[in-house]
Amino acid sequence: MVTHPTRLTPPVQCVPLHDPESRLEGVIVIHSTALGPGAGGCRFWSYPDMDRARADALRLAEGMSYKNALAGLPLGGAKAVLRRPEGDFDRARLFHAFGKAVAELRGTYVTAEDVGTSVADMQDVARATRHVAGLPARDGRAGGDPSPWTAQGVFESIREAAAFALERDLGDLTVAVQGVGHVGADLCRRLAEAGARLVVADVDPDRCENLRALHGAKVVDVDAIVGAEADVFAPCALGGVLDARSAQRIAARLVCGAANNQLARPEVAETLRRRGIAYVPDYVANAGGIISVSAEYLGEDAADVGRRVAAIAPRVVALLERAAREGRSPAAVADDLAEEVIAGARRPATAAA
Ligand code: NAI
Repeated sequence: MVTHPTRLTPPVQCVPLHDPESRLEGVIVIHSTALGPGAGGCRFWSYPDMDRARADALRLAEGMSYKNALAGLPLGGAKAVLRRPEGDFDRARLFHAFGKAVAELRGTYVTAEDVGTSVADMQDVARATRHVAGLPARDGRAGGDPSPWTAQGVFESIREAAAFALERDLGDLTVAVQGVGHVGADLCRRLAEAGARLVVADVDPDRCENLRALHGAKVVDVDAIVGAEADVFAPCALGGVLDARSAQRIAARLVCGAANNQLARPEVAETLRRRGIAYVPDYVANAGGIISVSAEYLGEDAADVGRRVAAIAPRVVALLERAAREGRSPAAVADDLAEEVIAGARRPATAAA
């Protein structure tokens, strides 16, 4: 899986995970606890070796520090990356063992779902620790699947960024969506309801067919979506989609989507700027998920989540305005702002064990 660092700084804590009995192998990286306990999901993926898994964890943990800081959350950044074992394994046992490792960190790390993990996995984690979110919602509290909140934040970001950068309304736009899973499909529904035309691609053809039937989306090959004729490109699959080559192929004038770590390398942001493409940094637009997950952990309700998610799009516009004013890429400006927030609040982790 390709991910990239923004400005990689040394992690606060790197905790190896190794339990042969449950076949747990991986790492928890706590990148920053300046704003509160390090929060970030648990990725479960087939990595060829631990070096690759650790590199992914480092970059993802750093990304969480930036995302949480700019979303105004009382949380630092962290991530767990677990290697998916070859062959048969007892999934419940593995995630229970992971939960025990999280418990030992006594609240400096809060976990949740990420690519490859589910609510059921987090329920196994919760048998060993309370420092876990992404569990089913209860008693009117925040919780449950965070994807709709992520889609809402991305949708509103696209709408407001298009009004600012393209000076056009959604009803007048074509949006190319790469990856129509949980977030991408929900985003398509919102875009279609707002009158936008859709172009979609996914490695799973059934998902595209569904959107063609529901919203009249045009379906293109996965290799064609980056260069598809569209006003907006919304990456909602996996990371690393914006590289030197794709940055030259993008036909859209605005890039805004949910996928984490979209830039294969930081300098691609500058290439996009020079091509006159407004790039909304992924971790600013896609913060709805962690906002929902953190509200669950902090015991807040859906209204708190709605208030924070509603602040995403105005933040995006402020970012684009400042980037245009300073002649810099929005990604560089966002990183600066996040670092300012973190530097302004250096204090130890606060979660009780
Ligand atoms: P998902 O797994 O439900 O959907 C991803 C979709 O992308 C799948 O339909 C998959 O078939 C498709 N896909 C994979 N490779 C592709 C390719 N090369 N070309 C086209 N399609 C491809 O995941 P979900 O939850 O929708 O997340 C999407 C992205 O947003 C991920 O990068 C995730 O890390 C990020 N994200 C998700 C959040 C959430 O609340 N679910 C929160 C913040 C970020």
